Formats: sequence, structure tokens, C-alpha cells
Amino acid sequence: MKKAILVVLILSLLVVVAAACGGGGDKSASGGDADVAAGKALFEKTVLEGNAGCVTCHAREPGKTIVGPSLAGIASKGEDFIRESIINPDADVTEGFPAGTMPPDYGQKLSDEQINQLVKYLMTLK
Ligand code: HEC
Repeated sequence: MKKAILVVLILSLLVVVAAACGGGGDKSASGGDADVAAGKALFEKTVLEGNAGCVTCHAREPGKTIVGPSLAGIASKGEDFIRESIINPDADVTEGFPAGTMPPDYGQKLSDEQINQLVKYLMTLK
């Protein structure tokens, strides 16, 4: 009988220790989420490094056109496509939209880090 109580005690101790370790465990791995949040903030600026900001031309609701196409579901086109669309917008002009409308110089005005953050954010628009 005493043995059983001891086993229960040890087991409950293990559960407590495991819960304590598991809790804070993955907070340090939030680098990706921080980039996504930074990218969202960049996307939502109405003026971005002297250009009109993304949000002034792009909606995130499906089917809603402002000046450019809605970016709802843009993640399906992949990271490379999104990056190219930001750096070199006329490389692959979206059907039904005119070339030369999206500012062509984000690639010069934004840092690599900012572009990465924007790409990571847009990859969450599934
Ligand atoms: C002045 C308006 C304008 C601004 C500002 C603008 N865009 Fe665009 N964007 C467009 C237009 C118009 C197109 C479609 C024609 C083309 O592909 O160039 C487009 C296309 C895109 C595409 C490709 C969409 C698709 O379905 O193929 C992406 C991705 C994109 N823009 C992202 C961005 C991001 C990110 C920003 C901010 C850094 C931004 N745009 C700022 C007008 C704009």
C-alpha cells in the first residue's frame, strides 16, 4: 500500500516537472512570428520609405480590388514569386492589371530584412 502511494507521488511530481518545462519551452523559437508581425506592420504602413504603402493598393479580402489585386491567398504562388513581385513588379504582371503601377523601386528602398519580413507575412495569407 505504501509503495502505491509513493508511485503516485512520484508520478504526479513528474507531471508537474514536465508541465513546467513544456510551458516556456517554445517562446525562444518565436523568431519567425516576430518577422511575420514586422512584415504585417510594414505592409500596413500607408507610406513606406517614400513610396505609397502596400495597403493603399492591396486588399487582403478575397476578390477586393483597390488599385492592385487582392493578396488573399497569395501564399499559394510561393515565396519566390512574392519576392520577385516586390523587387521586380513588372517581371510577371498580374493578368487584368496594368504594368508599371506598382512602385518599381521597393527593392532599392527596402532592406533585405524588410523584404524578407514582407514575404514571410504574405506567406501567411493562405
Ligand atoms: C500604387 C499601387 C501599388 C502599391 C503601393 C503596391 N502594389 Fe503590389 N501591385 C500593384 C498592381 C497594379 C499589381 C498588379 C500588376 C503587376 O503585377 O505589377 C501588383 C501586384 C502585386 C503582387 C502580385 C499579385 C499577384 O496576384 O500576382 C504582389 C505580391 C504585390 N503586388 C505585393 C505588394 C507589396 C508587398 C507592396 C508593398 C511593399 C505592394 N505590392 C505595393 C499595385 C501596387
